[in-house]
Amino acid sequence: MKRIVYTAEELSARVHALGRDITDAYPDGPLLILGLLKGSFIFVSDLVRSIQRPLQVDFLVAASYGSEMVSSGEVRLVYDPETTLEGKHILLVEDIVDSGRTLGKVMEVLAARDPRSIEVCALLHKHVATHLKYPPRFVGFDAPNEFLVGYGLDHAENYRHLPYIAGLQ
Ligand code: IMP
Ligand code: MG
Repeated sequence: MKRIVYTAEELSARVHALGRDITDAYPDGPLLILGLLKGSFIFVSDLVRSIQRPLQVDFLVAASYGSEMVSSGEVRLVYDPETTLEGKHILLVEDIVDSGRTLGKVMEVLAARDPRSIEVCALLHKHVATHLKYPPRFVGFDAPNEFLVGYGLDHAENYRHLPYIAGLQ
């Protein structure tokens, strides 16, 4: 039923490398890591421990007006961080970029708040979207175009706790 796509060891090695890239990419200024819940919760917790510079962590919760996050296209923030974004480097952390619609809407809202810079870090990128307004600057893996679960990713809220990422079939 499940095929392992990325083992816990592969995830750990790649997340450490991303942490080093992010450390090098932000030599100065305040850095705010914004995790997009729920899917990013495990990735964020591992990633921030691999970044060796001062930073702050907060989370966002986005929801669609309809019931299906991916099909609705209308996204609003149901939890919005208290911290100001003005003058800070903002790194939005996503579990997976599929159509990129969630990301696009959330980035528009955040970019309007005068951050010093705003970029995206995605653990997985399916590369199915033809045009992304905010292509992720940091990507963990170019993922196969199949439904993936584990390491934060769910199917109907199940499987988020798996230490590896698997394809459901
Ligand atoms: P997008 O707006 O189409 O890019 O969808 C992004 C969101 O859909 C992600 O943050 C996930 O919550 C969910 N999603 C997309 N593909 C998958 C998948 O393969 N497994 C689990 N969730 C997914
Ligand atoms: Mg989901």
